[in-house]
Amino acid sequence: MKSITVQQPQQMVIENRPLPEPAPEEVRVKVKLAGICGSDSHIFHGHNPFAKYPRVIGHEFFGVIDAVGEGVTTSRIGERVSVDPVISCGHCYPCSVGKPNVCAALVVLGVHRDGGFSEYAVVPAKNAHRIPDEVPDESAVMVEPFTIAANVTAQVQPREEDIALIFGAGPMGLTTLQALKGVYGVKRVIVADRIAERLEMAKHCGADHIVDNGKAPLSAWFERAQIKPTLIIDAACHPSILQEAIALASPAARIVIMGFSSEPSQVVQQGITGKELSIFSSRLNANKFPVVIKWLQEKRIAPEKLITHRFPYQQVGEAMTVFEKDQKSCCKVLLKFSE
Ligand code: NAI
Ligand code: MN
Ligand code: ZN
Repeated sequence: MKSITVQQPQQMVIENRPLPEPAPEEVRVKVKLAGICGSDSHIFHGHNPFAKYPRVIGHEFFGVIDAVGEGVTTSRIGERVSVDPVISCGHCYPCSVGKPNVCAALVVLGVHRDGGFSEYAVVPAKNAHRIPDEVPDESAVMVEPFTIAANVTAQVQPREEDIALIFGAGPMGLTTLQALKGVYGVKRVIVADRIAERLEMAKHCGADHIVDNGKAPLSAWFERAQIKPTLIIDAACHPSILQEAIALASPAARIVIMGFSSEPSQVVQQGITGKELSIFSSRLNANKFPVVIKWLQEKRIAPEKLITHRFPYQQVGEAMTVFEKDQKSCCKVLLKFSE
């Protein structure tokens, strides 16, 4: 089989690998589609501290089960599945409190273990989630990025009355936006970015207001509007944004961060305690695949609005370049591995 492997930073190849056999409690997935994410590009360039090389990258993938290991019913062969990349031990402290996404022995497919940019991938059977017939392939491959939004929103329980502010109109900002509008019915969602084309996408995904904060500070916009955000999601993840969010927030607001910067964020405690703000963080997803699959069935989210490019996997180099260089026209790039 062919696999897309990052052999070492900056060296990505399509190589021949032996067809893997599923171990006990595993299934083999014949991959149909996979999505490119920022973290694939980070592993490619050696910017992910968790990655080990060589690595088959890719953690957003969908396909069909074509073989099962011992202990897995053969009736699963032929099942359409999306794969949760989070593998956890099930008994450590974080696992015991419902946060397998930060398991003490966390393994993420495509990061710590070979992932889905491959004609076939073997994965734990319980990570392969059945996709209902009515959900199309191109929606199924988008489950993982929406689980990030599901994890963010589960932490803060958005309310219709919230005035929500999202920093960043990249894939993460847009999945969160769709969840706030389509699932939680938040009446006012403001999205800030510096790229006009991305703000247009946010509008298309349901944003009530879009703000180009490269031109004027957000504080000016909120002063003019005479409102304060009660829920702030940082999906841009520059270390300076946390303090900006603290300053903008309404008293009693919730703020969610999701960045991995190693640079410190300078924050003023008075701004937090004085308004009794709640600051949450969110990483990957904690058992959110079933949640998002239900959102898809109920048509509460529209993943097709995020898909801007499709390439056969043989053109992964070109696909990665478009993804990295063309933020104006590019949101989600899909790779096709089989029909
Ligand atoms: P992206 O780079 O495509 O989008 C970020 C957007 O933020 C860009 O459109 C950029 O113009 C905008 N931006 C930058 N600075 C801004 C500012 N000060 N104000 C407003 N907008 C600003 O990235 P993507 O894929 O949407 O991911 C966003 C972030 O989320 C990344 O930093 C990534 O590492 C992180 N992430 C975190 C995950 C988690 O589970 N915690 C999962 C996936 C991504
Ligand atoms: Mn991703
Ligand atoms: Zn664990």
